[in-house]
Amino acid sequence: MIFAANFKMHHTRESTINYLNRLEDIMKEAEYPFKVILFPPSTALQSSSDWVSIGVQNAYPSSEGAFTGEIGLTQLEEFGVDTILIGHSERRQILGESQELISKKFSFFSQKGFEIVYCIGEPLEIRQAGEEAVAEYLWEQFDGIDLDYERLIVAYEPIWAIGTGRSATPEDIASTHNQLRKRISRPLLYGGSVNPLNVKDICSISNVDGVLVGSASLEVEKFHSMMSAVAPALV
Ligand code: 13P
Repeated sequence: MIFAANFKMHHTRESTINYLNRLEDIMKEAEYPFKVILFPPSTALQSSSDWVSIGVQNAYPSSEGAFTGEIGLTQLEEFGVDTILIGHSERRQILGESQELISKKFSFFSQKGFEIVYCIGEPLEIRQAGEEAVAEYLWEQFDGIDLDYERLIVAYEPIWAIGTGRSATPEDIASTHNQLRKRISRPLLYGGSVNPLNVKDICSISNVDGVLVGSASLEVEKFHSMMSAVAPALV
């Protein structure tokens, strides 16, 4: 089971270090059977430890160069970071990232051997149009993506469930993850308003291999409470 925390544009370098120190203490003490990945803002990147992997929320598909405002492989190597989030709906929608750029990022960072958490998700009108429309929309988001890449993790995050407090229903999650599983053998995460109250049910759905958490991950004790809610069911 994978627990991933996406800080988005929250936390500073100082508060990330404090968070990480506490999270590592929790992981050492509790010995949870989870892989934990933390995606802090780029200004707060740290090196991974045995307990917590650190990933970057975004990077440019190049080692270095004239790409104002971006960071690339050279900057990530300084921290030993080899995990990246690609395709998040906030980057697709707010930053206008095209599938072409997204697939370039995927190609570049997969060639460099990165672990890639690749996000897909449909807007509300597509969900309302029914399961077939959802499946079609989601498969288009895999254009140019190698589904057999060995360090691929897929995160299904319906856009209407992100930051809304309204997670997808267990039925919607189950049917979408079952569809994805037909073509993807790599871990499948669910994201979108996962919180301490719904995380146990979500993690018990078949073909859900973990969660990608935004707002409920921002306080370390809350993130911890989510792990402790799920851990007993795994024993
Ligand atoms: P929330 O958990 O705040 O809904 O965010 C989910 C998300 O976008 C994680 O990448």
